[in-house]
Amino acid sequence: GAWDKLRTDPIIRMMVMAIAFYGMSTFEGPMMSIKAVNSLSHYTDWTIGHVHSGALGWVGMISFGAIYYMVPKLWNREQLYSLRLVTWHFWLATLGIVVYAAVMWVSGIMQGLMWREYDEQGFLVYSFAETVAAMHPYYVMRAVGGAMYLAGAVIMTWNITMTILGYQREEEPMPGSIPALQPAQ
Ligand code: HEM
Ligand code: HEM
Repeated sequence: GAWDKLRTDPIIRMMVMAIAFYGMSTFEGPMMSIKAVNSLSHYTDWTIGHVHSGALGWVGMISFGAIYYMVPKLWNREQLYSLRLVTWHFWLATLGIVVYAAVMWVSGIMQGLMWREYDEQGFLVYSFAETVAAMHPYYVMRAVGGAMYLAGAVIMTWNITMTILGYQREEEPMPGSIPALQPAQ
């Protein structure tokens, strides 16, 4: 039934996660449009985190799901080269964005707070360069998240190429998945 498909079909799972990120970024957006919140978030990495939970999470993942769905149909293949590789892509993309967005929240809020910090005489406490230095570890982590996301896309490229070339990978079904019925059955 529909519930089993939701639970076990890696392509549907990818698209459900896309919708979850759509929900998150369209929840975060209105929060960021509140004047008091925006006075902190504007110009900071927080915006960049928001952008990418929309761009990587929603736009990226809904596109991957659509590609995985369309390619076997367009090239008349029974199914994709590998569903296991779709699951690998799913986890790399999901964990990659979570790392990416989470560190941009931390660095963005830190950046905003450092910019508005005054001492008792009314001078700014931090120079711009100090805020950049403070963000360095988060940029490294962001690069790790981005690299995971990119690795998922490379895996997809391989999977799609092999599908178009007409190969079918011999593989056990994913743990917990119900084997799909083949047309002959
Ligand atoms: C109800 C939905 C959304 C609302 C109300 C919203 C609101 C906002 C706000 C307030 C900012 C910060 C603007 C600033 O400080 O300058 C922003 C930035 C941004 N958002 Fe969203 N957002 C929403 C959904 C999304 C989604 C789904 C995406 C991507 C698919 C997205 C992409 C962006 C981009 C690219 C920026 C950076 C551009 C800018 O700073 O103006 N947003 N959004
Ligand atoms: C591995 C994946 C990605 C990485 C590592 C990445 C990295 C970056 C970086 C470093 C910036 C500049 C941020 C700054 O000004 O501080 C940026 C900006 C942006 N990226 Fe990405 N990106 C990725 C994927 C994407 C995708 C798939 C989309 C769209 C579908 C996207 C849309 C944008 C947009 C709209 C901006 C401008 C944000 C703004 O200045 O308001 N990115 N990205």
